[in-house]
Amino acid sequence: MIEIIHRDGLARIGRFEVNGRAVETPALMPVINPNIIVISPREMKDNFGIGAIITNSYIINRDQRLRESAIKNGLHSMLDFDGIIMTDSGTFQSHVYGDINQNYLDIVNFQKNIGSDIGTILDIFSEPDFTYEQAKEAVNETYKRALESKKIKGDMYLAGPIQGSIYQDLRELSARLMDSLDLEYYPIGGVVPLLENYRYSDVVKIVMSVKMNLSFGKPVHLFGAGHPMFFPLAVLMGIDFFDSSSYVKYARDDRVLFPDSTRYLFDLKYVPYQTEFLNSSNLEELKSMEREERFRRLALHNLKISLEEIERIKASIFEGTLWEYVEERCRVHPSLYDALYEFYKYSDKLEKFESLSRKHPFYYTGAESILRPSIGYLEKRIIDTYRYKRKTCIVLRREDLEKAMKYIEKFDSHFLLKTCIGTIPFELLYIYPIFQAILPENCHYRENLSLILDSIDYDVLISWLKGVPEKIVEEEKYITRADKRDLDLLRVRAVADYQFGLGAGEELLKGDVKIVKSKNTGMIRNIYVNDKHILSMRNDGFFTLKIDGGKILHKKFKYPKLRVVVNKDSEEFNKKGKNVFARFVKEMDEYLRPFDEVLVVNEEDELIGVGRTFFNWLEIKTLRKGMVVEIRETLKLNE
Ligand code: GUN
Repeated sequence: MIEIIHRDGLARIGRFEVNGRAVETPALMPVINPNIIVISPREMKDNFGIGAIITNSYIINRDQRLRESAIKNGLHSMLDFDGIIMTDSGTFQSHVYGDINQNYLDIVNFQKNIGSDIGTILDIFSEPDFTYEQAKEAVNETYKRALESKKIKGDMYLAGPIQGSIYQDLRELSARLMDSLDLEYYPIGGVVPLLENYRYSDVVKIVMSVKMNLSFGKPVHLFGAGHPMFFPLAVLMGIDFFDSSSYVKYARDDRVLFPDSTRYLFDLKYVPYQTEFLNSSNLEELKSMEREERFRRLALHNLKISLEEIERIKASIFEGTLWEYVEERCRVHPSLYDALYEFYKYSDKLEKFESLSRKHPFYYTGAESILRPSIGYLEKRIIDTYRYKRKTCIVLRREDLEKAMKYIEKFDSHFLLKTCIGTIPFELLYIYPIFQAILPENCHYRENLSLILDSIDYDVLISWLKGVPEKIVEEEKYITRADKRDLDLLRVRAVADYQFGLGAGEELLKGDVKIVKSKNTGMIRNIYVNDKHILSMRNDGFFTLKIDGGKILHKKFKYPKLRVVVNKDSEEFNKKGKNVFARFVKEMDEYLRPFDEVLVVNEEDELIGVGRTFFNWLEIKTLRKGMVVEIRETLKLNE
């Protein structure tokens, strides 16, 4: 299992441990060919901080000297590496050279005997040009071999590659079959020819078909994806491990890896991405080096560039900027750009993994930014939870908003703001991603006015796209004047509905409402009703739920809405404020998203406390370890 430390959608920073050795993911495992060691594993660990490598048990087994050394001394001592060593099985050699004449159980046994941390079954490489029948056969045979291999693997972690060529239903089938075996590690195989031919859209379809059918907590490895160009999109799809032989393969041909491209060393006059191994001051010196020395230097450079890309990806997951980063990176090659669009076709499915907000503003990087699931999610939630009750509706442009503010108070109309990420009711202007969005002046407006028309149950719609507010005054006959409206109250109600469900706002605000604002910023901070503190407003415009607010929502909404149900073994701990662990969760509202506010209840649906979940139900039910819900407040014991 991967212990998830930070996440954004399917992307995660995690910790993976085997045999007391641990690495942080996403991680790149450099491929070590035990016959030709260019950068030694020790050097990798000491100078590059590499915690996991991959080598090939078929190559070791075939060579008498290596075989005897591995059996006698163990793999870790043979390679002089005390981090995680994964071994592959020879499947890739069968893809390159044809049949390798190897018994599939013998190779698993051999990996176990030499002390591999993660051994790989001898799967069937499903080529992209396989017929459907051939691919299906590869899936079934791979499954059969995995099933048999599992029986003899002992304590070794076993990797079961997912096959199925380019057929999505077969990839789904393969993922489900292999998942049912509950192996420790899942590579996605058969993609090297696709990557080599820049068929990134096909790889996206494959990865997504697999990810949607595998248990969430399992590590997923993309076999043979060694070019850093594809790392960001792959991580956004939930890939945890890469292996790279590219750093040596390219170096052997004097090819230089950059995060966005590959160049021939002798074509370079400037070095766009520099490392200590290759930069503008040593470029000419490198060109004139002896072949072997140059090869090693380029391998070092290529490895460093690949690792730096992983580091940038991790930084962007942590900072909440991964989507922007991927959109930026996918512009380096038209095939990657196509792949990004292919990925965004899954936005509907990705919404389940989408949180209400991020710590970083929504940056618009181009027309495809509005295809992110966070925007689809926003739109759907507005439709579900915002009700049009007034007779008129005024659509403002962003630049008119300030001018219109004084009218918003006075007119009993809906005011909507037209932006390039959607048309948003003013009550929701301060929530993520709207208020925090950094949008260009000249982006194309998103033509989703149909959203408003469809959900309006009144007959007049006035859309002033120009001339606000003069037009408002002119057209006053359409507008009902209101006594000064309490905009804060309208906002709190609309945000509560958006966040907790339609009707939450009205219920929470029954009674004597006091809204406390920050003296410095004027922003809403705390909401009291009948002197009870029910909600606090966060900087992202959403609420944290206090226990008194939780009690109201628990009464208002029927089981299982907003609930995380814990079993009897956990109940007493949670009542004392201890967090909820995965294996104690019995059920959960399937509409809850990562980082949502939740009601923690027992099996009798009695409220225990309020808190925040880190996962959705799809995820929690497959996680067996780790904390999943943080309890913030519990009922007082005598309540
Ligand atoms: N290396 C690259 N692709 C594959 C694959 O499909 N299976 C295995 N076992 N190794 C690989």
